[in-house]
Amino acid sequence: MSKIDYLRISLIDRCNFRCLYCMPEGEELSYILKQNILTNHELINLLQFVFIPLGFTKFRLTGGEPLLRPGVIDLVRAIASLPETQDLAITTNGYHLPEMAQPLYDAGLRRLNISLDSLDGEKFDRIIGNRGRSNWARTWQGIQTAYEVGFNPLKLNVVVIPGINDSEVEDLASLTIDKSWHVRFIEFMPIGNLDLFNEKAWIPSEEIRRIIRERWGLKEGQVKGNGPADVFQIPGAKGTLGFISQMSECFCERCNRLRLSADGWLRPCLLNETGQIDLKTSLREGVSLSTLKEQVRELIAQKESINFKLRDSGTNSQDYSRTMSQIGG
Ligand code: 5AD
Ligand code: SF4
Repeated sequence: MSKIDYLRISLIDRCNFRCLYCMPEGEELSYILKQNILTNHELINLLQFVFIPLGFTKFRLTGGEPLLRPGVIDLVRAIASLPETQDLAITTNGYHLPEMAQPLYDAGLRRLNISLDSLDGEKFDRIIGNRGRSNWARTWQGIQTAYEVGFNPLKLNVVVIPGINDSEVEDLASLTIDKSWHVRFIEFMPIGNLDLFNEKAWIPSEEIRRIIRERWGLKEGQVKGNGPADVFQIPGAKGTLGFISQMSECFCERCNRLRLSADGWLRPCLLNETGQIDLKTSLREGVSLSTLKEQVRELIAQKESINFKLRDSGTNSQDYSRTMSQIGG
């Protein structure tokens, strides 16, 4: 089993987008009450006295949309300045990067993943569920600003949905030719919007690689912090391509992460809540940080047996009612 040293921390469950693969259409989601969200102070305490002593060195801030969280810049500064932090990254939809990329960089952040599912403004708005508004230009500006500010590697996430954006695979891949960007194609998962998943299904990464290989050729590549992605490169390109193939190639054996939700639930696996710990309630009831550390140590010991193994489960057999924005992608 991989060493568990990577914590994904959801800062808020709200989002200003409603990406169609992430959220069910028309349904109102219930949100965490503000007083139930872990404060910056609680988070830093948990990192310093629970996670770091257990060997965690890599942290990713997610959401919902993490840049909507009040105080996110201060939190980034605090985590980046912990001496044990080896890697700190944020996953964002990019909407707030035009004004926040520089302050995030100044606070010590060096890595960003930005969702970009289409290069066509109208289609983009359809995917993110904000009809009639032009959000693509702002997101694109956010990506440019992040690049100019110096974020490297700048990673762009594409969830490939048949009949929606699969026709753009080549255009999206070609972004890596002139810029040192890392474009990652993610297999659509049956989580968040099951109706859409059942209607459209998913495309295996190998199929996407075939499209790219036929056009330009494809060789193996490398990128910092590749996680579960298989990395490739168009020959001669400045950037790289990543493929996240959780549907076609179970990578549970390589899973090195735990997830902390905005309201303080620690989860061993994206798709299986067995063993989850309510750290927020314990903290607020005065349970000591050293006791919590032992509980987390225990959870880590059980993680391998809890990992869900999506591939083995069959894709339509389960009902994952929660969305990425609720669990913390
Ligand atoms: N399938 C695959 N990836 C998803 N994400 C959210 N929902 C899904 C899904 N159903 C991921 C996307 C997005 C990030 C925030 O969460 O990669 O960029
Ligand atoms: Fe889209 Fe991310 Fe917001 Fe979900 S959390 S709606 S994937 S931007």
